[in-house]
Amino acid sequence: MSSGNSHFSNVDDSPLEGLVGTSAAMSSVYQMTRLSAASNSSVLLLGETGTGKELIAAALHRLSDRASGPFVRVNCGALTESLLDSELFGHVKGSFTDAVRDRTGRFEAAHGGTIFLDEVNSTSSTLQVKLLRVLQEREFERVGDTRTIQVDVRVIAASNCDLNLEVSEGRFREDLFWRLNVLPIALPPLRRREGDIEPLVRFFLDVYGTANGKEIKKIDPDALKALNEYQWPGNVRELQNYIERAVVLAQSDQLEPSLLPVAVMGDAAEAQVAVFRPTDDQSLIREFVYNRLSKAEKDADNLYNEIVEPVEKELLMQVLQSCNHTQTKAANKLGINRNTLYKKLTEFGLAKSKNDDSDAE
Ligand SMILES: Nc1ncnc2c1ncn2[C@@H]1O[C@H](COP(=O)(O)OP(=O)(O)OP(=O)(O)O)[C@@H](O)[C@H]1O
Ligand SMILES: [Mg+2]
Repeated sequence: MSSGNSHFSNVDDSPLEGLVGTSAAMSSVYQMTRLSAASNSSVLLLGETGTGKELIAAALHRLSDRASGPFVRVNCGALTESLLDSELFGHVKGSFTDAVRDRTGRFEAAHGGTIFLDEVNSTSSTLQVKLLRVLQEREFERVGDTRTIQVDVRVIAASNCDLNLEVSEGRFREDLFWRLNVLPIALPPLRRREGDIEPLVRFFLDVYGTANGKEIKKIDPDALKALNEYQWPGNVRELQNYIERAVVLAQSDQLEPSLLPVAVMGDAAEAQVAVFRPTDDQSLIREFVYNRLSKAEKDADNLYNEIVEPVEKELLMQVLQSCNHTQTKAANKLGINRNTLYKKLTEFGLAKSKNDDSDAE
């Protein structure tokens, strides 16, 4: 059953479904997950961003006898205190201005299943008290209600910051910490998972290769060396992101150093870029858009302008310059109305004044 890599010699330590990597550090995680799944005790998932906490939470549910019940995830870091309160516990009509009807909370929705409290460290002290009660008594009231609701829910919580530190600095209740920390599972950072980089790279080459209709079977030895030496602050998510990008840009059946970011390749990549830089326009545009998209905020809502505007701005500047800043000429060349051009220049902060060009000639 066990490869002997880890703590419990009689427990299966093979990778859980959907997870890649057989390092000793991960083998222990697989064992802890299998051992914890059957229980109703709280699990606390700890680990840097991108280490796979959400995957483990889902596996805990899938392997439990609650698997046929609901799995409900709540990102405690994404909502304000009062929204999170009614998200978790529900509310009754009229309990606050926007409460136009009764609402079932996520704890009720998770009845008979599992609730995953992601970024639990972001909860306010008031909510921490409420959570403590649910954990101890399995009961709560909806916001604005006096009726007590009982639920049968298994709680999994995750934190990507050091909860011990949060407790010692008074930002997280110690009693809640101990209630959550019955079964701690620590996800190791990727840089500590010896031997896992290459299988992860191959896994994502395969995933994104299939998605993009490409087959990339080979990995350049220098690229592999750099990937193995890199520190991976964003862990598996960061690696996944770089491989997706590399696959999109790849023009051969090999993962070349030039396809990896300078952060990973260091000087080696910069030297290679000159040789491998994509030369056709579409590749350059694809790379530009790709870079912009990967830098964008998760909840971005203005991507069109953010990505198209810098291109527009650059175009206007270059054409204006070629026309000695004569707006009429530039507008003709661009094939747009002069007023449109002026409006755009103003918008981009490039306009001096309408009369400030030599159109009067
Ligand atoms: N061992 C692994 N094998 C394959 N994919 C993985 C592995 N670990 C993580 N991933 C993938 O990496 C990404 C990040 O994982 P996940 O969302 O579970 O991380 P997280 O610890 O919850 O991060 P955060 O703290 O930022 O929420 C996901 O796309 C996930 O599928
Ligand atoms: Mg997560």
